[in-house]
Amino acid sequence: MIEKTNNLKAVFEEKLKTAKVLADIEQLRIEFLGKKGPVQELMQDLRNVPNDKKREMGQAINTFKQFIEKSIEEKQEELQKLEWQNKIDNTPSYDESLTLNKDEGSYHPITIIQREVESIFASMGFTIENYSEIVDDYHCFEALNIPPHHPARDMQDTYYLSTGQLLKTHTSAAQNYIMKKYGAPLRAIFPGRCFRNESIDACHENTFFQMEGIMIDENISISNLIYFMKTMLSEVFGRPVEVRLRPGFFPFVEPGFELDIKCLICGGDGCPSCKDSGWLELCPCGMIHPKVLEYGGIDTEKYTGFAFGLGLTRLAMMKYGIKDIRTLNSGNLKALSQFVNA
Ligand code: PHE
Repeated sequence: MIEKTNNLKAVFEEKLKTAKVLADIEQLRIEFLGKKGPVQELMQDLRNVPNDKKREMGQAINTFKQFIEKSIEEKQEELQKLEWQNKIDNTPSYDESLTLNKDEGSYHPITIIQREVESIFASMGFTIENYSEIVDDYHCFEALNIPPHHPARDMQDTYYLSTGQLLKTHTSAAQNYIMKKYGAPLRAIFPGRCFRNESIDACHENTFFQMEGIMIDENISISNLIYFMKTMLSEVFGRPVEVRLRPGFFPFVEPGFELDIKCLICGGDGCPSCKDSGWLELCPCGMIHPKVLEYGGIDTEKYTGFAFGLGLTRLAMMKYGIKDIRTLNSGNLKALSQFVNA
């Protein structure tokens, strides 16, 4: 049996040497470790080995199996590196003197909708701000009245970096920074990419876009919020849209709401995009919690404000009738380039 193992080892090593691409390795793995492979066969042979030798033989087979697994893994790594290097070497270098054919290329639907919403809010006097995708715990949570261990943190499966920083889970992470930058009165929107460790399906992605908006001034109330949201949504869709407000809890607003819009894909009848409810949750919002204003250095005796976190990804899906959120990050040009003149 030992001899058989040694022979097999020699055959394996020979074949491993000749493997040139990753597919060869995979084949080798199946050949040697698969159900009908020699390692399994050896295991079966073990039954006929006398009891006093079983242990020794078993160990020998195991060592052999581990040797194959390790060699395959190492070779895989080596070939992977080679394949990458090959790809890099064979990529034609970038020619910056080439002129752009104007008929080629298109904007991503999210970009189109983002610019549209930006221009609507800009016409209502809102400043547009950019903010980093990597933020710290203070801005993403603490300054938003979400202390450590607060249950609201569970709503957001956060991607933490080894530096202790994190990928922003919502655009609200910029609220504190913007309040401090401009002070009150203030009207600002800040679009951005957000990240949450969600399981992905037709309506959830781990990477999605939001557009946050805040308005802070004297005597701002919920009716201001409703007015701005209705105006904006009707402009985006080019017709009056049906909306509804439901109570919603977010530690950084009081009171908080969920603004839903009637599903434009099914017209309210129910479809996978709206989970058969006829409504799509589009925009959580509310009156900014006084503590959050305070953290932002705003005088709460004088000012109140509203905030909303518009789901830009959802909005694009509704506007263009995109049924599956995964299309947006798919890089599928056939699907995405349709929006060139949208
Ligand atoms: N940041 C919240 C979220 O993404 C949404 C929100 C923004 C709620 C502004 C209220 C006010 O879940």
